[in-house]
Amino acid sequence: MITLAVETSCDETAAALLDDDRVLVSIARTQQIHSRFGGVVPEIASREHIRLIDGVIKEALTGCGIRLEEIDLLAATRGPGLLGALLVGFHFTSGLALRLQRPFMAVNHMEGHIYANYLNGCQPRFPALILVVSGGHTQLVLFEGVQRYRLLGETRDDAAGEAFDKGAKILQLGYPGGPVLAARAEAGDPGAVKFPRGMLRSGNLEFSFSGLKTALLHHVRGLAAGELANQLPDIAASYQEAIVDVLASKTADALRQFPVRQLLLAGGVAANRSLRERIKVVAGSMVEELVLPELAYCTDNAAMIARAGLARYLTEGASPDGLDAVPNLSLHQEREVKLHD
Ligand code: KG4
Ligand code: ZN
Repeated sequence: MITLAVETSCDETAAALLDDDRVLVSIARTQQIHSRFGGVVPEIASREHIRLIDGVIKEALTGCGIRLEEIDLLAATRGPGLLGALLVGFHFTSGLALRLQRPFMAVNHMEGHIYANYLNGCQPRFPALILVVSGGHTQLVLFEGVQRYRLLGETRDDAAGEAFDKGAKILQLGYPGGPVLAARAEAGDPGAVKFPRGMLRSGNLEFSFSGLKTALLHHVRGLAAGELANQLPDIAASYQEAIVDVLASKTADALRQFPVRQLLLAGGVAANRSLRERIKVVAGSMVEELVLPELAYCTDNAAMIARAGLARYLTEGASPDGLDAVPNLSLHQEREVKLHD
């Protein structure tokens, strides 16, 4: 079954084609224009999606030699994300589905991140525990069956990706800062600076990263001129370690409370090498199988949207007509949102 999916929830204009769960092609154009503003500008993101989307889809089709008529299923991100950005991909793709007379799937972006684990051969084993770590979300989710998600805990303030990005901004590493901060941390000593571990012993599965960001700001302000450049790898490594420590420790707590068969990582921060290594240790003998998404499918892409759309299509058929993008769509409210549409 050939699925074409489009993802435009933020600043990536992405299209992908899958043959069942196998990725034929996955193209993601990162909109570079935002870097000069130090963050994504929603209105500019929408305009860029409009400018790029047609070309990205055509490039995906020619990249794998598939003609429009050969597509069996279409899917696009419905939310969460920036409303204007979502609308571009959602309506372009649902319109194309109408023209081709093929079923269309409205996909939850976070469910897409989860299904990035199930590309190219790996299958779900329920129950599974998912550590969701993206730019906007940090959650521990129990995945009990297809479309059965139970939220065990989440962040009270910043998301893990946001903590990386804000840390990178304080360290003047540019935007998006997560990957740059992680790269600078490679050469550093993670024990050099003792940064706080928010809510580590809170006795629940909640997270907090805002205190860590403030601690970094104070630490940097206390440095003499020139010291930041010298100590950057150590500071970056210590800051990253504080984030990874909490994520790994809360995941271990969740596994003790909720025995599962499979452990998954989902979201952009799943690309972080240090987190991947620590999660391998945590998984140890506690789960039958640890699944880590391939690096190419950790950050926003359309292959994961196609895979989630396919899974949902096979269990419940096409999405109903008349749906629209929902900027704050959550995994757990989705059924309710659907009922109100
Ligand atoms: O999932 P994603 O692509 O977009 C959202 O849905 O939010 O996640 C983007 C986030 C950004 O905060 C980015 O800095 C972070 O993932 N990120 C990383 C790495 N790669 C991406 N954070 C730490 N280390 C990385 N290697
Ligand atoms: Zn994402």
